[in-house]
Amino acid sequence: MLVDPLTILKKYYDPRSDLYRVLYLHSEAVAGKALAVAENVSDLYLDRKFLFEAAMLHDIGIFLTDAPEIGCFGYKPYVCHGYLGREIIEAEGLPRHALVCERHVGVGITREEIKERNLPLPVRDMVPGTLEEKIICFADKFFTKDRGTAPREKTVPEVIKSIAGFGAEKVGQFEGWLALFKHQR
Ligand SMILES: [Fe+2]
Repeated sequence: MLVDPLTILKKYYDPRSDLYRVLYLHSEAVAGKALAVAENVSDLYLDRKFLFEAAMLHDIGIFLTDAPEIGCFGYKPYVCHGYLGREIIEAEGLPRHALVCERHVGVGITREEIKERNLPLPVRDMVPGTLEEKIICFADKFFTKDRGTAPREKTVPEVIKSIAGFGAEKVGQFEGWLALFKHQR
C-alpha cells in the first residue's frame, strides 16, 4: 500500500504553521533515529518503510491537546495525544501505524497504571508490542519538541533522567531496550 505520511500530516496541519514545523522536525528526527537503530540490529529484519512512515505519523494527535508552548490549542490533556493519533490514523485506513501512535507515550502505559493514576485515557494496555513499535517509542525518547530549531539528540543519561520521575520500572524498561537494540549507553 502506498502511504505518504506528509500528505496525511498536511491534512491535519497547516504546512505553513509553526506547529507543523515543530511536528515535522521532531518526527523526522525520530524517524532518522529509528532507522539508525534498525541499521544497528539488521539481524532483526525490521520493516524500514513502516518504521519511517509510522515515525512520521506517531505524534499526529498533538494538535487536539492543550500544549500552547508548542502551538497546540486543543482541549485534551497532552497525554491523550497517543490514542487520539490512533483514532486519526485508523480513520486514514492505517491500523498498524495507528497502534504506534497509541503505544509510544512514555515507554508505554499499562491499563493498571491508567486505573491507578486515574489517567484521562481509555482503560487498555498502551504498550509497544512489536519490535517496530518498540523502536519508535525508544527513538522518540531522545527528542523533545522545540519551537524554531531542530531538536538535539539527548544522551542516554539525559533520557534516563527524563524517565526516572515515572519510576524505576520505566527506567528498567528503557534499559532493556538499550540492550535489545545494542545501543551505546
Ligand atoms: Fe514523539
